[in-house]
This record gives sequence, structure tokens and C-alpha cells, in this order.
Amino acid sequence: MKTLYATAALMLAAAPALLAQNTALNARIAKLSTQEEAKVIAWRRDLHEHPELGNLETRTAGIIAAHLKSLGLEVQTGVARTGVVGILRGGKPGPVVALRADMDALPITESNSLPFASKVKSTYLGQPVGVMHACGHDTHVAMLMGAAEVLSQVKKDLPGTVKFIFQPAEEGSLPGEEGGAKLMVKEKVLENPKVDAIFGVHIQAQTEVGNLSYRPGGEMASSDRFTIKVHGKGSHGAYPWNSVDPVVTAAQIILGLQTIVSRQVKLTDDAAVVTVGTIHAGVRYNVIPPDVELSGTIRALNPEVQKQIWASVRRIATNIAESAGATAEVTIEPYVPVTFNDLALTSRMLPTLQSVAGPGHVIEQKAVTGAEDFSYYQEKVPGLFLFVGGMAKGTDPATTADHHTAGFLIDESGLTLGVKTLATLAADYLTGKK
Ligand code: NI
Repeated sequence: MKTLYATAALMLAAAPALLAQNTALNARIAKLSTQEEAKVIAWRRDLHEHPELGNLETRTAGIIAAHLKSLGLEVQTGVARTGVVGILRGGKPGPVVALRADMDALPITESNSLPFASKVKSTYLGQPVGVMHACGHDTHVAMLMGAAEVLSQVKKDLPGTVKFIFQPAEEGSLPGEEGGAKLMVKEKVLENPKVDAIFGVHIQAQTEVGNLSYRPGGEMASSDRFTIKVHGKGSHGAYPWNSVDPVVTAAQIILGLQTIVSRQVKLTDDAAVVTVGTIHAGVRYNVIPPDVELSGTIRALNPEVQKQIWASVRRIATNIAESAGATAEVTIEPYVPVTFNDLALTSRMLPTLQSVAGPGHVIEQKAVTGAEDFSYYQEKVPGLFLFVGGMAKGTDPATTADHHTAGFLIDESGLTLGVKTLATLAADYLTGKK
């Protein structure tokens, strides 16, 4: 009994002290983040003017590595081709938290007339293209460089280690090429020292500056590609009874696939998508071809639903083909898993988000059926991925250019909140602030 009282008294005494220490640390982080603003914007503009396609981010990586070295971090380069990892060891022992940014641009010709608009040209899959940071990964690099500078200035008060992960090729690698988060994980970016939790942010061109948004659980969808080869028997188009018509069979399969989401998935739990994007068959109007090939994408917000859809695609395609006397060969290529925000970590860090953005500026958003390869880290360790507002205040989101388009535009006044969010999430995680 006595011991219990003593422990309780000690806890009561320790709690306000820890809280005061955290509050002071958070206030310093907030101030330092604000002081970073001009640098972060300058980095972002330079990166925006010099975008690099996935797995080719050598200039970007050089800038990051030089910056992290100048802060006294341990730096690894050439991770997953062009990735850079910086390790900041705090002044006290504790857990390891990772912060991640992606570095790649897209094969899009910029249409904005900004003074730092991209004029870079390259080739992509043999075609001449412009190159543009049309998803805002330039802002991610700049914000994480800023967070590294902020946290390095408070490192003696950090109980634990922060790992800064700058990842190539989030938008995907060329066919047959490995890259992105999957390769970073394969090259053990979450080991040595072993990462306990990971955070990442994405700028959002349709969310007002000053706001953060997130979703607990399935936030962004998994993305899988499927191919269905329907093998029938060709004939003269005038004598269809001599054929096993793969065109009609493929049409039935396409309609059958549309019943997966509408009739088989429990839509009140999680949304899902099955889209057929290509269909190729035949060369001449009066010839029934022997084969048809379809391909499409499967999106799910829950790994169990994803597996259910895979099974349904196989069952529907093979059985409809069989009913016609044809065969269907189904290939499903998993591409990116569900970006799944760990429920315990998300609720633990919610007060941090509310404290950095302020009341009313943390939005629980709807799920997104687009994908994000941050999910590969979340498959290994608890992670939280959230969105930072990058739309000028008072703008109607319907009038803004979408991500992955030539007019994509970010209001830079949103970047400081991103820096502050990343740095405070890391500090609060390490100090165990609830
Ligand atoms: Ni992106």
C-alpha cells in the first residue's frame, strides 16, 4: 500500500514537470519552424525549377545530403538508387522515429508562368516530355529539410533518434525497374537503428493553407493491376457458330466484374473500385479473333477487401469464360498496399496535430481512392500519413488545378505548418507526450 502511494505521488509530481518540459520544447520547435520559412521556400523554388523523374533524383539527393551533413547528421546516400537517409541522435536515449519525404517529379510540361516554373525536358518511355513537380514532392523535400534543421537545433532535449528518409520514385518506377518505398524497405531503411514509428505528409492543393487532414485506418487505397486474357476460337465473322467468341465473353466478364463492388463488397465499411481500362482484340471487322486481352485496376481501403476482390475477379473471369467454352487467364499484380494509418498511433498523435494547427484546423477527411507508397513503411511499422493544406485561403477548390496536371499550384505559405507538424510529431513521439 505504502509503495503504491509513494509511486502515485511520484507520478503526480513527474507529470507536470514532463508536461512543462514538453510545452517548452514544442514552443521552441514552433518558433524555429517559423524562422525556417524563407529557407524552406527558397529550397522549394530551386527544386521546383529543377525537377527530376523517379530514380533519377541525383541533383535533389545531392542538395539534401549536403544539407543533412551541414547539420551534423549521419548521412547515407544511394539508398534504393537515389534515396538519402539522415540520422539525428538525440541527447538522451529513447525510441526511433522516422520522417519521410518523396523526391520525384512527373513527366508533365508545366503550364504555370511562375518565375521558378520548370523548363526541364527529358524522355519518358521513349517519348519527349517536360518534367514538373506536379504533385508537390518539391515541397515535401523542402519541408523535411526544414524539419531536420529545426530538430537538429533541439537535439540535446530529444530522448531518442530521428531518421529522415528522402525517398525516390514514389510515382512508380519504369516497367521492370525497382524503386520507391518498396525498395527502401527492402534495403532495410527501417533497420539500424530499428524504426518504431513513421510519419509522412503530403501537400494538398485543394485544402486551405493552415489545415491538416487525415483519416484513421484506410486513408488511401491499395492499387493493383489485373490482366485477363480470354482465349476462345476465331472464325469468319459470318459464321459465329464456328467460333468460341472471346469478344462477347470479354464483354460479359467486364459486366460481371462490375458486380464485385456493387453486389459483393460491404460498401458501408469501405469503398472499393474495379475499373477496366484497356481492351484489345481483333484486327478486322468481319473476323472473330481467337483472343481478347483486358487490363484494369483494383482499389481497396482495407487489405481484407482487397483480397476478397482479387478472389472475385478470378472467380468471375474464369467461370464466365468457362460458361462460354473459353478460358480466362487472370494475372493480378499487387502494386501499392493500402495506406493504413495505425489506429492507436493516430489517436495518440491527434493532440499533437491539434496543438500545431490549432482548434478547427484538423480535419478528419474521407478516404482517397488514389494510392501512395508510404504504405510499404506502414506494412512494417505503425505509421501516420497526413495532408497539409497548400491552397490559398479563400479559394474555391473547384477552381484549382488538380495534382498531376500541368497547372498544379501550391501556396507556399502552407509550408511552415508542414515543417512544424513533422518536427512536433517526431518530438512528441519521442518524449511520449500523450
Ligand atoms: Ni504525390
